Amino acid sequence: MNYRDTMNINAAGHLQIGGADCVELAEKYGTPLYVMDEEYIRSVCRAFKSTIEETYGSGNMAYASKAFSCKAIYNVMKEEGACIDVVSGGEIFTAASVGFDMGKAFFHGNNKTDGELELAMRAGVGTIVVDASDDAERIDAFARRFGKVQDVLVRVNPGVEAHTHSYIQTAKVDSKFGFSVKSGAATEAIKDVLSRKNLRFTGLHCHIGSQIFDRSAFALAVDVMTDYIAQLGALGISVDTLDLGGGFGVHYTEEDPKYNVKEYCEYVSLLTRTLCDCVERKGIKKPYFVIEPGRAVVGEAGITLYTVGAVKDIPGVRKYVAIDGGMTDNIRPALYEAKYEAVLANRAAEEAQEVVTIAGKCCESGDIIIKDIALPRAKRGDLLAVFTTGAYCYSMASNYNRNAVPPVVFVRGGKSGYAIRPQTYEDIARLDEIPQTE
Ligand code: LLP
Repeated sequence: MNYRDTMNINAAGHLQIGGADCVELAEKYGTPLYVMDEEYIRSVCRAFKSTIEETYGSGNMAYASKAFSCKAIYNVMKEEGACIDVVSGGEIFTAASVGFDMGKAFFHGNNKTDGELELAMRAGVGTIVVDASDDAERIDAFARRFGKVQDVLVRVNPGVEAHTHSYIQTAKVDSKFGFSVKSGAATEAIKDVLSRKNLRFTGLHCHIGSQIFDRSAFALAVDVMTDYIAQLGALGISVDTLDLGGGFGVHYTEEDPKYNVKEYCEYVSLLTRTLCDCVERKGIKKPYFVIEPGRAVVGEAGITLYTVGAVKDIPGVRKYVAIDGGMTDNIRPALYEAKYEAVLANRAAEEAQEVVTIAGKCCESGDIIIKDIALPRAKRGDLLAVFTTGAYCYSMASNYNRNAVPPVVFVRGGKSGYAIRPQTYEDIARLDEIPQTE
């Protein structure tokens, strides 16, 4: 079970996170409820940042805000001195609205709209990542209109693809992201950038996958990318920044390693050591180093609290324990067959007695949050805590069945407060109109 440093069972037998009793949180805020441990988020940020500074020198982490985006998280990143990765006008708008220094933002996307590029210019986004054949032309035109020279990275596809515990090296060109290094498309894209007056080519970006524990995949990406930097050097093209993307894995179930903050430091220092070694061996200029973790920063910081409702026992087949949320607040099991662990937060010290399936409340058979989990005998009114829901759950939530998206509270040192207030039915229906079509 994923009891991290800041999660434990208190004397009442209740799950506690960041010093706050989950039963009290549920009473105060209702369920379903996303709870994020702010101290854990900050400690992972500090670990990534300080490891880069101490083991490499010039670089930073850019929090990939697609994992969890709201004003409170951009405010944390502002206070921690981190950069951010944004991928839409909505993320740019939200970050800028809390006074985040947008000079420290990297704007990604395989199809940035005109409206988004305009917003990026107005907000002063520091770096835009070129990731489409006409990106350079379009960004250059916007920069000219705004009377500026825009820093850009070029996203390349290094042909390294990583998954949780393995990686493959491919010459795969079939991806909607990035310019292939192998095919020569990347070099063409860079030359295109260099030919434009209102763009400044600052370096390269790649992203090899998500939920990666195989460190050799990252090491290989560093090797391929520095080979490419050396190749570009021979063409007289200088690379100032190397952004290796995100992908650091988190613990969902016993199938995954369980890293503490110190182990994330070791993970990152392996990358910086590999990079230092490659820089020296290949005689290239030491680039400014960026990584873009999303899931690792917020994933394990979050839990979701639900109230148990109907229990349906089909003897000899399966016992369903239904909760007051489901695929609307966590689409990942339905979408990716993602696996989770959970406990009864109000009876956290009790031994498991039976294996059940946790069913969501949506009108869809696939709305199953956990298949086959051992729990104490759950009954209506019990409180279920699902672990590691901080990344890609709130950010991918929906109003399917017109269910409200649950609120998010941050906890820290026993105190709690809303990061995102509850959505009401009025909120859900607020933009609805009866069209006058006659
Ligand atoms: N940088 C780039 C360019 C990315 O495309 C991504 C993730 C990241 C950074 C952050 O990756 P992370 O450190 O969070 O693994 N919805 C999926 C995950 C999609 C990730 C897409 N890109 C999920 O729920 O697993």
